[in-house]
Amino acid sequence: MTTLITGGAGYVGSHTVVALQAARRNVVVLDDFSNARRDVIDELRSLTAPDLIVVEGDAADRPTVEHLCDEHDIDSIVHFAACKSVPESIADPLRYYRNNVASTLSLAEVAVERGIERFVFSSSAVVYGRPEALPLTEETPAAPLSPYGETKLMCERILADAAAASDMSVVILRYFNPVGAHPSGRIGERPLADAQNLVPAVMRVAEGAVERLGVFGDDYDTSDGTAIRDFVHVADLAEGHVAAIDIDLGEHTGRIFNLGTGVGTTVFELIDAAVTATGRPIPYEIVGRRPGDIAVSWADCSRAHAELGWRAGRDLAQMLTDHWNFAQRWRHLGA
Ligand SMILES: NC(=O)c1ccc[n+]([C@@H]2O[C@H](COP(=O)([O-])OP(=O)(O)OC[C@H]3O[C@@H](n4cnc5c(N)ncnc54)[C@H](O)[C@@H]3O)[C@@H](O)[C@H]2O)c1
Repeated sequence: MTTLITGGAGYVGSHTVVALQAARRNVVVLDDFSNARRDVIDELRSLTAPDLIVVEGDAADRPTVEHLCDEHDIDSIVHFAACKSVPESIADPLRYYRNNVASTLSLAEVAVERGIERFVFSSSAVVYGRPEALPLTEETPAAPLSPYGETKLMCERILADAAAASDMSVVILRYFNPVGAHPSGRIGERPLADAQNLVPAVMRVAEGAVERLGVFGDDYDTSDGTAIRDFVHVADLAEGHVAAIDIDLGEHTGRIFNLGTGVGTTVFELIDAAVTATGRPIPYEIVGRRPGDIAVSWADCSRAHAELGWRAGRDLAQMLTDHWNFAQRWRHLGA
């Protein structure tokens, strides 16, 4: 009973490796380190097992995947490996279609051929685009606004079709906005380039590395004019994958689940919470809306609660405290 985790050296993947190991699953990690640092592996081994198997390779490369599945008797796949930046996908769409879709196709082909029972896919709330009604349920029509979002929706459809025509059972998890880190501070979000999302940017200001935070718009139709997102602790997301590996789907192969908290937080509310969590001032300036950003997004997670038995348990204060603890540790280590 071994799970292949593609992208397991990345942000959400590394926390899921820890959660699956804690749930007594064997795991094998496949990552090409295109957006992860190799020293993550030492941290992962210290949190799990010194002999954790990590293979460097491309999830789109069928021979690599076939070899891993045969050698390790893989019975489930959790597929995180992907490029994930919306602006980058607009600038370089073909890289996104190639990497995200080709890796999903290769893995699905091998999974169906090898009779692998469970395939869990990392999708995203970006597939909803600019929704007309909130909260977002899994039935909200998908209408992505970027090539990145399109790749996620395409992969969902490929997997749902493959599942309908085979014995492979597929679970699709649409994450909202993952933040936070492992409480040890050993793993968290450490991409190779600066992360473009809000919480890492807030942390850089709190550290003093950046003078002030750019707030993208204060003229949205929200309580304080700033955009609203549904932030969810990465450790809660990781636990969602443990539930997704084990759930009996019955007829519902290809089932989609939103993973968020169901709570919307404005940018100003997040800044206030970050001032409390870090004990540091967070100066900011309004820099105008960013093209392509939507005003408001939060999830209805009742399906995940009812069917997966999953609910996000960690609040915003915990997310920011853990993120800060992690950011501090790596700053002291100079990385
Ligand atoms: N973090 C978010 O805000 C967010 C939100 C919604 C969905 N997601 C999805 O969750 C998944 C994980 O996101 P993350 O934040 O952990 O990203 P990440 O970049 O930290 O992790 C992705 C990992 O996959 C690896 N990778 C990329 N292409 C690969 C390939 N072809 N073969 C092998 N490894 C490859 C990278 O090196 C990296 O370690 C992605 O599929 C992403 O689209 C992320």
